[in-house]
Amino acid sequence: MKRLSGITELNLLVNGERRAVAARPSDTLLRVLREELGLTGAKAGCENGDCGACTVLLDGLPVKSCLLLAVEAEGHRITTAEGLKDTPVQKAFLEFNGFQCGYCTSGFLLNAHSLIAARPEANNETDRERL
Ligand code: FES
Repeated sequence: MKRLSGITELNLLVNGERRAVAARPSDTLLRVLREELGLTGAKAGCENGDCGACTVLLDGLPVKSCLLLAVEAEGHRITTAEGLKDTPVQKAFLEFNGFQCGYCTSGFLLNAHSLIAARPEANNETDRERL
């Protein structure tokens, strides 16, 4: 059983790579991704689950990494905006300038990517409603 006090070593599967990281049980996945692994695609916005700037995929589904403890993500596939490099959704955002200020772009990218994967038959109307 994993020790849940003090610093503990986690093995996270991030963007297809196994990453070992030292973390406290209270560390959010957002903090560990940004500060321990240098993956800054997920942003700290509201840090209470409202804005979506911190969105990552956990086993293909969008989650707000500010609300998830890093220890809870162990054993799951984590995808960050960095993991969407050269995907069709990233190329579409580039082609159509889908950025606005850019702060929450990773949240939109990851939500759009998961929507396309889950419902390839979706159309503009259903995509707009979901986003
Ligand atoms: S930072 Fe706003 S939902 Fe996580």
